[in-house]
Amino acid sequence: MAQHAHAKKLNYRNIILAGIIVVLIIVLVVLIVSSLGKKTPEPAPTVPDASSVADGSSVYGSEVSSEEISSSEESSEESSSSAPSSSESSSSKPESSSSSGGTTTPTGNYAAMPETPYNYDTTGKTVRNAFDANGEIDLLFPINSTYYITRNFKAAKLETVDGDYKMDYRAAPHCRDMLAAMRSELNSKIRAFSTYRSYSYQEGNFQRKVNKLMNKGYSKTDAYNTAATIVAIPGTSEHQLGLAIDVYIDSLYNKYGELNEHFEETDEYKWLQEHAWEYGFILSYPKDKIKDTGIIYEPWHYRYVGVENAKTIRDSGMLLVQWLESQNIVYVYNGN
Ligand code: DAL
Ligand code: ZN
Repeated sequence: MAQHAHAKKLNYRNIILAGIIVVLIIVLVVLIVSSLGKKTPEPAPTVPDASSVADGSSVYGSEVSSEEISSSEESSEESSSSAPSSSESSSSKPESSSSSGGTTTPTGNYAAMPETPYNYDTTGKTVRNAFDANGEIDLLFPINSTYYITRNFKAAKLETVDGDYKMDYRAAPHCRDMLAAMRSELNSKIRAFSTYRSYSYQEGNFQRKVNKLMNKGYSKTDAYNTAATIVAIPGTSEHQLGLAIDVYIDSLYNKYGELNEHFEETDEYKWLQEHAWEYGFILSYPKDKIKDTGIIYEPWHYRYVGVENAKTIRDSGMLLVQWLESQNIVYVYNGN
């Protein structure tokens, strides 16, 4: 009887043990199946090393070394409004047009924008050619990071506007008149500070700004991105079209060592706000449009668009490119 009871006890123990083993196996199987069902994490997307972009090796071409830039090309677009350079004083001379014409050309292959013309969706739009029948750039071509020009761009014939400074012959007479009017009405010493710039000149200008920021401790990427808010990326500057002018006053330059947004406090700026359109010029980089232009406030920079257009665009309160968009107009640039 005792033997029977002992066997029964053993039997129970075996059943319990078997039960535990079965439960363990089930848990194990569930764990294995659930771990197999889990997705392997996606590899992180490969983001191009931003420093290589700033280097220009992939997207923007190779950079021009500072050694390649002639000292006679020093600083034309040294502005210090909201730019980080506000506290610094540049020892460089204001630009003279003998350098702005690209007579001293940095070598290298700094292609800030792709060398091929952009591909813009023209469906349902009024399409205009960037160049007119004479092969001259259209006065309303809205140069920016969408409508950039390529290295082989040729500006229309240039004409002197002030000293050695030159502009597109269609803008030049109006510019001369505008400067003359300001001088006589305000007894002003206003002068041209920067006008036409060749592609290579803009490259040098841009690269100097990048170098300067890097010398101040910016990383290549930050220096590149910040420079691009102050100096237009080569291929995207209105100066390259021969249709823009920076005006300035030497006394202000001597005070700040560079272009400075305090220019907006001058009578000259107030006059320009009121009258620039009468000479066919509009302010390209207004204070309230920094987000749209991607460029700092430049109270000194004016773009020629023709008198009629200047009035219309000014009255619209829009940027040139915004006004064109509102008119459903796009430009096609065929890489002249
Ligand atoms: N500073 C203006 C944006 C230019 O470089 O054209
Ligand atoms: Zn300018």
